[in-house]
Amino acid sequence: MTAVMEKADAQPKTGEIPSFDVTIKVRRFNPEGDAAGESYWDEFHITAYGTDRVLDALHKIKWEHDGSLTFRRSCAHGVCGSDAMRINGRNRLACKTLLKDVNPGKPILVEPIKGLPVVKDLVVDMEPFFASYREIMPFLITTGNEPTKERIQSAEQRERFDDTTKCILCAACTSSCPVFWTDGQYFGPAAIVNAHRFIFDSRDEGAQQRLEILNDKEGVWRCRTTFNCTEACPRGIEVTKAIQEVKRAMITRAF
Ligand code: SF4
Ligand code: F3S
Ligand code: FES
Repeated sequence: MTAVMEKADAQPKTGEIPSFDVTIKVRRFNPEGDAAGESYWDEFHITAYGTDRVLDALHKIKWEHDGSLTFRRSCAHGVCGSDAMRINGRNRLACKTLLKDVNPGKPILVEPIKGLPVVKDLVVDMEPFFASYREIMPFLITTGNEPTKERIQSAEQRERFDDTTKCILCAACTSSCPVFWTDGQYFGPAAIVNAHRFIFDSRDEGAQQRLEILNDKEGVWRCRTTFNCTEACPRGIEVTKAIQEVKRAMITRAF
């Protein structure tokens, strides 16, 4: 019998949302208690409806089966970036992933993102990730006196870094990068994407400083053009392309 199936005896009436049964296997970790420090798979069987997402399933488990299940979420609509997790081996946002689209008919595996210390269940310590983000100075750097009028930017100048403004700091890219898995010191794609956002902003004057930071041995040259980051990004940002552009700017100093 398959784990996800349309209920044969539950022909939906007009206006009724069809349901299906799903098995969710969650990789759990508790730093305290009997099994302290050991991670293990926990299996739940739930009934889901129509367009339920993985986040809805996790809520259902927490509210109806096991209140101790721990995960992070806020907006539930793909904006805040707090619920990136590994779903069937791929980094995704739980709030943007429909149950019916994930490996239909088989259990759905949900794990914390890789490369960052697990705090509890699906919650990882994001501090190393944000430390790299802070290092690239993710704010406008200008010199001279405060301007007395708006800093004008043309549509073409704005377009130059439009893609990298879409980042929601979910860490799906960085935690899918094999270089980051093997060496947590690597700045990681998210920090480089956010450096790109300012390096190519015509109003900013801090590009040289950022490029010097990213020229570090743990900077952009660690990237092996694996593309996992681009595939993982829920915002569709061309992450690898942005990294290549930063590398090129480092060589040519043209930005
Ligand atoms: Fe998330 Fe994409 Fe930003 Fe990486 S670049 S942190 S995957 S939104
Ligand atoms: Fe890693 Fe992305 Fe480069 S996955 S190796 S940062 S292209
Ligand atoms: Fe905010 Fe998913 S909960 S992005």
